[in-house]
Amino acid sequence: MTKSPLQRLYQEVSAHLTSMQEATTNDPGMLDSYTDGSTAGLRVACNYALSAEGKRVRPLLLLGSARAVTSQGVSSAALSAVSRAIEIVHIYSLIHDDLPAMDDDDMRRGKPSLHKAFDEATAILVGDGLQARAFELIADAPDISAEQKVRMVKILARAAGIRGMVGGQYTDIQAVDSDLGLEALQRMHMMKTGALIQASLALGGIAANASDEQLEALDKYGQHIGLAFQVVDDILDVESDEATLGKTKGKDAAANKPTYVTLLGLNGAKSEARRLLAMSLIELDSFGESADGLRDLARYLVKRDR
Ligand code: IPE
Ligand code: IPE
Ligand code: MG
Ligand code: MG
Ligand code: MG
Repeated sequence: MTKSPLQRLYQEVSAHLTSMQEATTNDPGMLDSYTDGSTAGLRVACNYALSAEGKRVRPLLLLGSARAVTSQGVSSAALSAVSRAIEIVHIYSLIHDDLPAMDDDDMRRGKPSLHKAFDEATAILVGDGLQARAFELIADAPDISAEQKVRMVKILARAAGIRGMVGGQYTDIQAVDSDLGLEALQRMHMMKTGALIQASLALGGIAANASDEQLEALDKYGQHIGLAFQVVDDILDVESDEATLGKTKGKDAAANKPTYVTLLGLNGAKSEARRLLAMSLIELDSFGESADGLRDLARYLVKRDR
């Protein structure tokens, strides 16, 4: 049977993300502190975080973006390093998102969340360490220029930071027990989730030497699909079951958080996700078949059940 563009993308991403633990904890430069025993526990906790597989959405976007720009000539080793980096930043964000001071969530990717399996201090430090390690992976990435690396680092730092994910997470926590309007909710979603999704696309584009026009189209696609992604996450929090989801259901309502579902209702949220999907696909019109992976991925992100 021939594989769909998304299946091919997934196969490629899986090859890049094999032994995620090695990306962080088997680095020869780190062995000294491991072997003297002082950070052995941290290594075990990092491995725990990196061994649970998620949907790999951000590496898929990164790869899909690079493939949309060009079918060849992008070093596989470079794509591997950069897609590990983006997934590692995402994993750090999940570890901190689950902390008692944040969402206080006991389950993540079908397993006890990190602070449950270990302790809070370890979870904070694993997150901090992983975030730093992601930037090191980009700096050390083979086969891409120093200029490409600086652009990637700048984009990822901005997306992960106060103007992106962290800022969105802050707004999310502040919004507990309050009524955000639709526009404010949209801004929050675009920061806490959309920013890293847009960064994934930008990194893939930069790795493939995309033109400014191509980067702009990818960014607009990411703006719509990033927002759609969090809208669907809000819907699944209400509709899915925990076994499929791999995380606690009903968390948003329990914490009295404003979401797309509280603002628009389930059906309203679903039709908003479909509208955003259609908008994202329009942005890919300037690409030919090379963007079929991203098209498939967008459809999957809106109809997913976990
Ligand atoms: C969950 O992200 C957190 C959000 C940003 C909504 P994912 O749904 O991509 O989680 P994994 O990577 O599959 O675990
Ligand atoms: C989290 O959003 C977004 C992040 C930056 C991690 P949620 O809090 O809705 O994510 P889940 O539902 O716990 O995965
Ligand atoms: Mg949260
Ligand atoms: Mg959460
Ligand atoms: Mg959620």
